Amino acid sequence: MLGAQIIDGKAIAADIRRELKAEINELRKQDIVPGLTVVLVGDDPASQTYVRSKQRACAEVGIRSEVKALAKDVSQAKLIALIEELNSDPEVNGILVQLPLPAHIDSDVVLRVIDPAKDVDGFHPVNVGSLWTGLAGQGFVPCTPSGIMELLHRTGIQPEGLNAVVIGRSNIVGKPMAGLLLQSNATVTICHSRTQGLEEHCRQADILVVAIGRARFIQRDWVKPGAVVIDVGMNRVDGVLCGDVDESVRQVAGYITPVPGGVGPMTIAQLLRNTVIAAQRTL
Ligand code: GUN
Repeated sequence: MLGAQIIDGKAIAADIRRELKAEINELRKQDIVPGLTVVLVGDDPASQTYVRSKQRACAEVGIRSEVKALAKDVSQAKLIALIEELNSDPEVNGILVQLPLPAHIDSDVVLRVIDPAKDVDGFHPVNVGSLWTGLAGQGFVPCTPSGIMELLHRTGIQPEGLNAVVIGRSNIVGKPMAGLLLQSNATVTICHSRTQGLEEHCRQADILVVAIGRARFIQRDWVKPGAVVIDVGMNRVDGVLCGDVDESVRQVAGYITPVPGGVGPMTIAQLLRNTVIAAQRTL
């Protein structure tokens, strides 16, 4: 066994950023500069790091970005008032409220306030509905799952007819991932913390997407030889970043995404893409 082909998300994301730069230059000729506003509540260091990388990526491709930082004890009403202001600001094409929000704020309520046409995260129920009714092209799709579809597509992997198993059922990754794979005509199973016989489900997967947040959880003998394994995990163990999939899986998988350098860079690339799309739709 030669071992899995590594899917280089960093390189594929760089290709996408290059393509987007060209699209942004076209928009600039029409005096449109795409703009993203990120709302960051509180001082969670991980969130601050994510927001900084989003800003850096925006600057690199020529998207205007702005961070609205609010104190961790800000009221829900104040946060909603800010979002309403951004909704009506024509300079703002995309609005992203960094999650998680502090416990006193109901994120379901807050996310519903974002104008669906500016919801570059794809979390608003209107956009969720568009995805599940097959109208994803009209709305916005969450960035991590759409980035994964892009990885599959650009690696020449066609999900049609394959058994796809998604582990994790979050609104950010698991559920939209399942919707996109279904739309691509895969046979989709969603597994989660209460699933019985998880290993057996994993062994049936031609495409296995793992988003559970448990370091090196998926083992080599759970994976079908030749399967495509997508690792969405971002865990820190003794200061080292690692995914949800054990290294040993590389010996049996056909394709695998590394951590770091797999799914992560694609999430940001898709955020840039959604922001460009939001700006193009104002034309
Ligand atoms: N926190 C972790 N992932 C995400 C994401 O994709 N979007 C937002 N807004 N917050 C997050």
